[in-house]
Amino acid sequence: MEDYREIIKEWRQRPNETYGGYHLADRPAPDPELTETGPRTPAGEYWRRFWFPICLSEEVTNRPLRKRILSEDLVVYRDGEGNCGLLHLHCSHRNMSLEFGIIEERGIRCAYHGWLYDYDGTVMETPGEPAGSPLCEKVKQGAYPVQEFQGLVFAYMGPMSEIPDFPMYDTFDLDGHELVPYRLSYPCNYLQVAENTMDPIHTVYLHTLVGETQFEETWGITPVLKFNDGETGLYSTLTYRVDDMIWVRTQQTVFPTFSHVGAFWETGKDEKYFVRSSITKWTVPIDDTNSMIIAWRHFGPAIDPDGKGKRDEVKIESVDFEGQTEARDYDEMQRNPGDYEAQVSIGPIARHAAENLGKTDQGVMMLRNRLRRGIRDVANGKPVVHYDGDKPIKNLYTQDTVMPIPKRDDMDDDELMAAVAEEVMRIVREGDNFAGAEREAFIIENLKKIKSDNRFVVGE
Ligand code: FES
Ligand SMILES: [Fe+2]
Repeated sequence: MEDYREIIKEWRQRPNETYGGYHLADRPAPDPELTETGPRTPAGEYWRRFWFPICLSEEVTNRPLRKRILSEDLVVYRDGEGNCGLLHLHCSHRNMSLEFGIIEERGIRCAYHGWLYDYDGTVMETPGEPAGSPLCEKVKQGAYPVQEFQGLVFAYMGPMSEIPDFPMYDTFDLDGHELVPYRLSYPCNYLQVAENTMDPIHTVYLHTLVGETQFEETWGITPVLKFNDGETGLYSTLTYRVDDMIWVRTQQTVFPTFSHVGAFWETGKDEKYFVRSSITKWTVPIDDTNSMIIAWRHFGPAIDPDGKGKRDEVKIESVDFEGQTEARDYDEMQRNPGDYEAQVSIGPIARHAAENLGKTDQGVMMLRNRLRRGIRDVANGKPVVHYDGDKPIKNLYTQDTVMPIPKRDDMDDDELMAAVAEEVMRIVREGDNFAGAEREAFIIENLKKIKSDNRFVVGE
């Protein structure tokens, strides 16, 4: 595989002059190491070491559903016993598509010559063959294990010798949260969609100052940003000064693309502590030029006390905040572009060599570097290190905390905000010593001490 750094180097050497379009008229190639996820590609091998969702449970019925995931053509179905199967699309006999298969009490039967498959790929019947035919023993249909959880169907598409336990995270089961599944399609590579969460400064411009205010006006305040790099995930802190309040928002991505977003109606004006995600999402490659977000929107009093979410808008190809799908007319897209326009208009596959990244893009760079490292580790035969691999319930850091901490005369306000964010995350990380309700109580109790800590506020 060509070293992408050579392509970047060549592009950097292009003349940089006004009216210099001639020198930049072609487009550099995409970076295949990060963006190609088909079978036997380096990133494809990496992806095939994780559980990730492939569709909603409600899509899996007694009618076969054709799906394309990681550039593989598949069929997903539910048999009469309720077993969910994920099989290669083409029948192992003479390759008719199983999207035309007939679902039985147990398994799916190919329509062409009647071979019957179980959900694990076992050939249960080859009815036209003579009795005693060895075909049932000799042949296996390609199959993948699935697990259904909270309305999503998760799959593991890697070698069974390396299958990890199904990962359970703290945000999968939070008091006062109801998880509503949805999925959105993007006609572009997965990476440019997934990078959005690690590019938090776009919320100031895309969502607030450049077009219309799409969320809350306070999102137009430039936050103090800090990105934190780790072997299994990244998180950023965005710290806002909102009058006498300091609002610390933490957003996290667990590799490859599992990420979490705070409430999109948060204003940073009211005191609160350790309020969790409003969105838990995975960005999944369909193939190299198509991807999808499969996610839960969190509803309920703990995350949305004023009931601002619109549950009936959360479903397949729809979510209850604007600019996330192609379902808007072109005038509206141009007048008030959102995340969908930003990510898709980059092109089918981003050309990283044509970018010019700055300090605020540190999160994007960290994500790419870490993914590349993981991809190369798998290529070199190293086992994947999974987030909180040894914990039955894995602690995530995504949260919003808003505290009354006025500006100080004796301290630069950006420094004060950075120090407060550091303290918030120190406490949240220390919470890793506990689990469940005990962890939450520990974190909230200690976060509440910050507003009277004279390292941050002037004493009475
Ligand atoms: S092609 Fe499927 S049974 Fe023959
Ligand atoms: Fe966004």
